[in-house]
Order: sequence, then structure tokens, then C-alpha cells
Amino acid sequence: MTRLKLMREEEVPEGGFVGVKAGGKQYLVTKVDGAISVLDGKCTHWGGPLRMGKVVEGSVRCPVHGARYDLRTGELTKQVGIPLIGKADDLRRYEASMEDGDIYIEV
Ligand code: FES
Repeated sequence: MTRLKLMREEEVPEGGFVGVKAGGKQYLVTKVDGAISVLDGKCTHWGGPLRMGKVVEGSVRCPVHGARYDLRTGELTKQVGIPLIGKADDLRRYEASMEDGDIYIEV
């Protein structure tokens, strides 16, 4: 296991997210009701860059085909909007830990 430092907690807006690259991979760091979550930064459909998405009703909306993922859990909340181009699945969520205001994950 490798411990990765992602960012400072105060850099993450309440009810929103920040994309960050660490260890060669993209992550999405979210904050809902003050709780930090760390999710995969690539859409499970075709790998869309979720850091460029928008917050819609507590979810991040993929900018490519519109799949949505719960900001807190990574659960798929809305399937891809176009039939016949495959389906998205839940995003992976990582256990985050805090130390002196810094956010870490183990990968
Ligand atoms: S790449 Fe995200 S919905 Fe298709």
C-alpha cells in the first residue's frame, strides 16, 4: 500500500469537488456536510474527466454523456443518457484520512 497526499481540506468547496492527480492517477475529492470523500476521477463509462463535470442535485455530472455519481459515495445516480453506447457503473470510493488538515488515501 502507498499513502498519497492529495490536498488541503480547506481547498475543497462545501457541496462541491476538486480534481487532483496523484501517483499518476486522477481523483475527485468531494465535500458534503463537511465530510470529505475521495472518488475515482474518471467516469466508469468511457473515462470522461469528472474534474470538468458539474454538480447537479448532490451528484457530479460527467461532461461527456451525462452519467451522474453521488458526491458522497460514488454511487451511480443517473445512467448514461444515450441508449446503445454502453452503461456506466458506480465509481470507486477510497478511504480518506486527515492529518493536520491534509487529505490522504491508501492505494
Ligand atoms: S464518459 Fe462519462 S458518461 Fe460517457
